[in-house]
Amino acid sequence: MGKHIEVVGGSSVYMGSAKELLEKILPNKRVIVISDANIDRTHRDLIAPYEHILIGLGEQVKSFATLEEVYRQLINMGADRSVFILGVGGGIVTDIAGFVASTYMRGVEFGFITTTLLGSVDASVGGKNGVNVGGFKNMVGVFSQPKFVICDTSLLHSLSDREFKAGMAEVIKTAILGDAELFEILEKTSFKELRKDDSLLEDIITRAVAVKAAVVAEDEREKGRRRILNLGHTMAHAIEKSTSKMNHGEAVAVGLYYITQSALSQQILSEEDAGRIFDLIEQYGFNTTLPVERKQILKAIEGDKKRSGDALHLILPSAIGSVTDRLLTFEELKSIL
Ligand SMILES: NC(=O)c1ccc[n+]([C@@H]2O[C@H](COP(=O)([O-])OP(=O)(O)OC[C@H]3O[C@@H](n4cnc5c(N)ncnc54)[C@H](O)[C@@H]3O)[C@@H](O)[C@H]2O)c1
Repeated sequence: MGKHIEVVGGSSVYMGSAKELLEKILPNKRVIVISDANIDRTHRDLIAPYEHILIGLGEQVKSFATLEEVYRQLINMGADRSVFILGVGGGIVTDIAGFVASTYMRGVEFGFITTTLLGSVDASVGGKNGVNVGGFKNMVGVFSQPKFVICDTSLLHSLSDREFKAGMAEVIKTAILGDAELFEILEKTSFKELRKDDSLLEDIITRAVAVKAAVVAEDEREKGRRRILNLGHTMAHAIEKSTSKMNHGEAVAVGLYYITQSALSQQILSEEDAGRIFDLIEQYGFNTTLPVERKQILKAIEGDKKRSGDALHLILPSAIGSVTDRLLTFEELKSIL
């Protein structure tokens, strides 16, 4: 059925026209869409045929308050265990839709149509769904795989350049941690080209999803290997906790820059490879200046949920296409970040 990548537990990411794919893979059930107001404006034709619930916009929407509101709406709609939840949107929508579907009446079937680049290469893939608590990102969540994810590059045309660029940060992250060839393709490609060339974009997304799918297949519940996907994310989450000036992808780009600096200064990474990473981050137009003071970032890192006791796993690039996992104490971390 067209190009698709198997993730784990029978879940697959399908590339191609969302409408055509839906006809083939949507189960014959009552479908309830969870989406947001922007999708209702830009892609109404996609969600209008179904009953739908629209959630608000922005990171603060990933909250218990939103979950409760969605559960109440589902109850008012008379949704029972046989419904199919279809999340249509970016990472915020799919995180909420996946969590709601995994918990409503102890779990109903669900799938996603991903509509952002960040969602396509990262948020919609891998079965992590969750909400933020007290400013801490994704503190409460589940591992639960969608039946399917549909990635239709034509839906990304309406994305702003800023949101598209945010997705590129995760693409760059993926290339650094697991696909040296993808890194080379990105070096030879420009942001403008990617915005225009859907087939090139589809190839790049497919490669990035394949890297994530392979890692998730090896370690679905993040006991070890899956941690490598957090490259640059310790600092990114700390930035997001400290300020709303940057979106997730922009914060990831800063995280990638600093972690590369750190790997270089610890002689884990060669000067040549570090230089290529710095150049690629610049090529895609990212601002790598810390948006808040360093001490604020370090304080936020202390609350990172990925800590184990007094230490934290930090993923560092060791070459283009590979990374290493170091368990560091906070004191060590302070001295290298
Ligand atoms: N579950 C995971 O494994 C995972 C992985 C990475 C990121 N995330 C989460 O994903 C979230 C970020 O996702 P995101 O960057 O997709 O943000 P988002 O969902 O907020 O989408 C960005 C903005 O673009 C709008 N939008 C979405 N699709 C559009 C389209 N096709 N055209 C026009 N506008 C559109 C949205 O309404 C929103 O305003 C964060 O909360 C992050 O923690 C989760």
